[in-house]
Amino acid sequence: MGQAPTLFQHTRSYAAQDARSRTVASAVNAIAAAAIEISELIGHGSLAGITGAAQGGRNADGDAQTDLDLHVDALIRAALRPIPIDALVSEESVEAERGDAAAPIAIAYDPLDGSSNIDTNVSVGTIFSIMPAGGGVAAFSRPGSEQLAAGFVIYGPQTSLVLTVGDGVDIFTLDRQERVFRRIGSQVQVPVTTAEYAINASNYRHWDQPVRDFIDECVAGADGPRGKEFNMRWIGSLVAEAYRILRRGGVFLYPGDGREGYGEGRLRLLYEANPMAFIMEQAGGAAVTGRSRVLDLLPGSIHQRVPLVMGSIEKVRHIELLHNDPAAASRVAPLFARRGLFRA
Ligand code: F6P
Ligand code: MN
Repeated sequence: MGQAPTLFQHTRSYAAQDARSRTVASAVNAIAAAAIEISELIGHGSLAGITGAAQGGRNADGDAQTDLDLHVDALIRAALRPIPIDALVSEESVEAERGDAAAPIAIAYDPLDGSSNIDTNVSVGTIFSIMPAGGGVAAFSRPGSEQLAAGFVIYGPQTSLVLTVGDGVDIFTLDRQERVFRRIGSQVQVPVTTAEYAINASNYRHWDQPVRDFIDECVAGADGPRGKEFNMRWIGSLVAEAYRILRRGGVFLYPGDGREGYGEGRLRLLYEANPMAFIMEQAGGAAVTGRSRVLDLLPGSIHQRVPLVMGSIEKVRHIELLHNDPAAASRVAPLFARRGLFRA
């Protein structure tokens, strides 16, 4: 049996389509090359002199920046330097950067998602979204449905890269000996239904009613309207939650809530929600704000937050119904509505 194709081999026929696809493929391969270095750096942890300690600075959204965030951002930036890019948005930079006005693409990325947990040795990752160029920062005023490619790298027990160029989702794992990514999953599909959900349940009292209703149904388990047991997971690292959902289904929620500054949740549209939404849809899942499709949103600013509900399509649709038509949702779960088990 021959070896599985490398990421480079996988993107070759896509790259042959036209000049823009060639640039997209080179950008993906450049991010993958940076990811190999990042994976090694993270693997060595404090032995490499990188601790994950806060550096005193904050990013545009107010998160404390660690030495690792800044180092990883620099590695990705350096890897992308030879690629013709019209505009670049990084979670770690307040402003978008203008590049080559004649370039065919624009990129938004989160260099190290989940980095606030790096000191606890959980999986973290790099998320990216590639848009058609559109006159500098204006490229990022377009809806996520126009993404040319999206993906993320997860630095976990294995380092893996998840990619879509709008033709399904493929997964590649880093072959550490050969220093290449090899395809381990083609046309990956998110199971339609699921018994797993992920949410930061400590915010329960701050949620809107539809989110409480959904979680109440899950917590009620076999005694509730769903008549089955559920299992909860919360890693606190978006890439790890997304990877789990791709492998075995599930639903992830980071809704807006009543805390100050959290009206639109915690996740950023351009480099967290949009790429994840593109991946979920391409894998047969879904991604919504609760009320509408993430990929239809018109961004208002580069670091804007957005509520995100993503994963197995059946659960995402049910959560949407709880938001948009609670009466219809309770007809689906009549026992629960009648008993009102968890209603205050
Ligand atoms: O980038 C934001 C992020 O770290 C995600 O990776 C993760 O899903 C979320 O924030 C964790 O939020 P919380 O701190 O509320 O658990
Ligand atoms: Mn992040």
